[in-house]
Amino acid sequence: MTTTQQADASAPTTAELRQRLPLVSVRGLKVAYGEGPLVLDGVDLDLFPGEMVALLGSSGSGKSTLMKSLTGFAPIADGAVRVGGYDLANLRRGQLRDVRASVGQVFQQFNLVGRLSVLTNVLTGGLHDAGALNLVGGFRSAQRRRALELLDRVGIAHKAAEPARSLSGGQQQRVAIARALMQSPKLILADEPVASLDPRMSHQVLTLLHDIARDDGIPVLVSLHVMPLALEHSDRIVGLRHGELVVSAPTAQLDATALEPVYAHDEEDDDVDDIA
Ligand SMILES: Nc1ncnc2c1ncn2[C@@H]1O[C@H](COP(=O)(O)OP(=O)(O)O)[C@@H](O)[C@H]1O
Ligand SMILES: [Mg+2]
Repeated sequence: MTTTQQADASAPTTAELRQRLPLVSVRGLKVAYGEGPLVLDGVDLDLFPGEMVALLGSSGSGKSTLMKSLTGFAPIADGAVRVGGYDLANLRRGQLRDVRASVGQVFQQFNLVGRLSVLTNVLTGGLHDAGALNLVGGFRSAQRRRALELLDRVGIAHKAAEPARSLSGGQQQRVAIARALMQSPKLILADEPVASLDPRMSHQVLTLLHDIARDDGIPVLVSLHVMPLALEHSDRIVGLRHGELVVSAPTAQLDATALEPVYAHDEEDDDVDDIA
């Protein structure tokens, strides 16, 4: 063993290799709802640990469907979707629950229970873990400690006892992120997480998600429809147009001109919408 290690001193360690293996690997993905047209048509996507990837595209381009295909909520017509060790197109019984437990999700409308406390909302993120509750159905104190730590991390610990609905939108979204972290997720999917937030809060929430990706080594896929936010807050950008990937590159190599294919001819589409 020792000699092998010496001989391969320059070879990557297992940890380094694991860093480079994509956690998510999508190849040739096609999705159609019922008898309808393909809403994703031949999409390839890799997501690596530690990177924040912005998913750009106009409304209806397939952003939510691509995210849903990573948690088994979209009908896969063809192609391969791998998340962690799982093949989403051919899951065995019980595996879907494991996949969903390992993916933290953040939504445009926060999806908190408004009348419940901030702390309780975060604690529900750990409910997939059978050990989260004690014998009388209360949350274990270790879970409470962890939830408070996560609230502290997202800067909302002082609001732990307040009903979630009393918080601002930006604060509620940070609570939703803490709830997602409570799952100890291997992947975070954030579907238009800042579409309901003002620019300052949008910046805070995207900075937080980017920090989590980098510090925790979790891939974060975040859909946005505002191009400047994607350019400012991602390591890589993938762009969907009518269900096809038209851009996929490191953010540092992209600018507004390079992203034009994502929005090409949208004015014409808008006209059609106006008439309809
Ligand atoms: N459950 C569904 N049933 C039928 N069509 C759907 C469903 N969800 C989405 N679609 C259609 O799929 C296309 C892509 O939608 P979506 O993935 O929501 O796009 P985006 O998130 O980019 O706005 C749209 O044409 C939409 O109408
Ligand atoms: Mg959507």
